[in-house]
Amino acid sequence: MERKATPFIWQAGPVLGIESSCDETAAAVLAPDGTILAERVLSQIAEHAPWGGVVPEIAARAHLAALSALVEDALREAGLGFADLSAIAATAGPGLIGGLLVGTGYAKGAALAAGKPYLAINHLEAHALTARLPGLTAQAPTFPYLLLLLSGGHSQCVTVEGPCRHKLLGTTLDDAVGEAFDKTAKLLGLPYPGGPALEALAREGNAKAFALPRPLLHRAGCDFSFSGLKTAVAQLVEAQPAGALPRPLAADIAASFQAAVTDILADRLDHALSLRPEVTAVIIAGGVAANTAIRTRLTEVVAARGKRFIAPPLRLCTDNAVMVAWAAIERLRAGLVDDLAAPCRPRWPLETP
Ligand code: KG4
Ligand code: ZN
Repeated sequence: MERKATPFIWQAGPVLGIESSCDETAAAVLAPDGTILAERVLSQIAEHAPWGGVVPEIAARAHLAALSALVEDALREAGLGFADLSAIAATAGPGLIGGLLVGTGYAKGAALAAGKPYLAINHLEAHALTARLPGLTAQAPTFPYLLLLLSGGHSQCVTVEGPCRHKLLGTTLDDAVGEAFDKTAKLLGLPYPGGPALEALAREGNAKAFALPRPLLHRAGCDFSFSGLKTAVAQLVEAQPAGALPRPLAADIAASFQAAVTDILADRLDHALSLRPEVTAVIIAGGVAANTAIRTRLTEVVAARGKRFIAPPLRLCTDNAVMVAWAAIERLRAGLVDDLAAPCRPRWPLETP
C-alpha cells in the first residue's frame, strides 16, 4: 500500500513521539530543533523473561497499562501540555500489531482531542534517522549514509538517501542477529535475553576453540544468514555428555559463536561499502550494537574504507521514542503529516514510503 502523506506547513513547536512496536514502551518530547526535552523508556524484559522471548499478547497489555502515565510523565518533565505540542507521532510499523495499535491509537486520540497533526512513523526509518539527531555528532551526516540495524527482530543493511528514501542492500535470510544470539545463549543455558549474557561468557573463552560456519561469507550482495551457525552450535552442544555444559566449554562455544557472527557482519558491511562507495557514514543501531567485540570490529571495517562510524549511545541504539519524535521532525520539515486513517503496518519494509 502506498503511503499518502498530506502536504503541510509546520508551525515549528515541540513534538511528542511514542514507541510501542516490540517490548519497550517509550515516550519522548523534543524541541523543534531536536533538543531532547524529556525521554522515558519502560522495558518489559521482566514480563517476557519467564517465557524465554517476547509474548505479543503480554506486550500489548503491558503497553496499554503503561503508556498513558509514561506520556504524562514525559510531558510533565518537559513542562508542557498537549496544547503546547506541534505534532504527535507514533511508530506505526513494522512490529507487533497489538503494541502498534496501542501506541498509534493513543497518538491518534491525543492528536484528535488536541487538534494536532499526527504522524505514522516507520520504526526502521526512525533508527536510520537517529544518525542526524542534533548533538549526537559534531556534524550530522549528509545523505546518503548506511544503516546497519542489528536487533532482535531485524538485521538489515540499508542506504539512507533522505527522509522516506531508503534502499535495502541486504537483510537476513533466516534469523535476525539478536535472535541468533538469544537462541545460542539458550542452548548454552544462559538466561533471556541472551545477547549480553553470551557476550559476558565469551570473554572467558577461546574464540578459536571451534571452527563454526560463517554462512554467506565473501558471497555477492549484503544478505546475512545465521541459522546454519545456530544449528552448528546445537549439534556441538548435543555431542557433549548429558547434563549442564562445563563453564569453560560453554565459554569457548560462546566465544567461537561471537567470533563467527563478528566475521559475518564485518564481511557483509565491507561488501556494502564496496558496493556503495558514495555513502558518507555508517550508523549502527539495535541491541546487538551494544556488543563490544562487534562494535570494535565494525569500527575497523568502516575506518579502513575511510568513512565515519556513528555508534549512538546504547539508549538511542535500542528501541526508544526520541528516534520516533526526531523522525517526525524530519518529516514535518519536509512538509509531511499523516491522515488519522493511516493504518498500522506490522510489516512495513523501509523501502515502502
Ligand atoms: O534492539 P533491541 O533492544 O530490541 C529488539 O529487537 O527487540 O535488541 C535486542 C536484541 C536481543 O536479541 C539481545 O539479545 C541483543 O539485542 N543484545 C545483544 C547484546 N545486548 C543486547 N547481543 C549481543 N551482545 C550484546 N551485548
Ligand atoms: Zn528497533
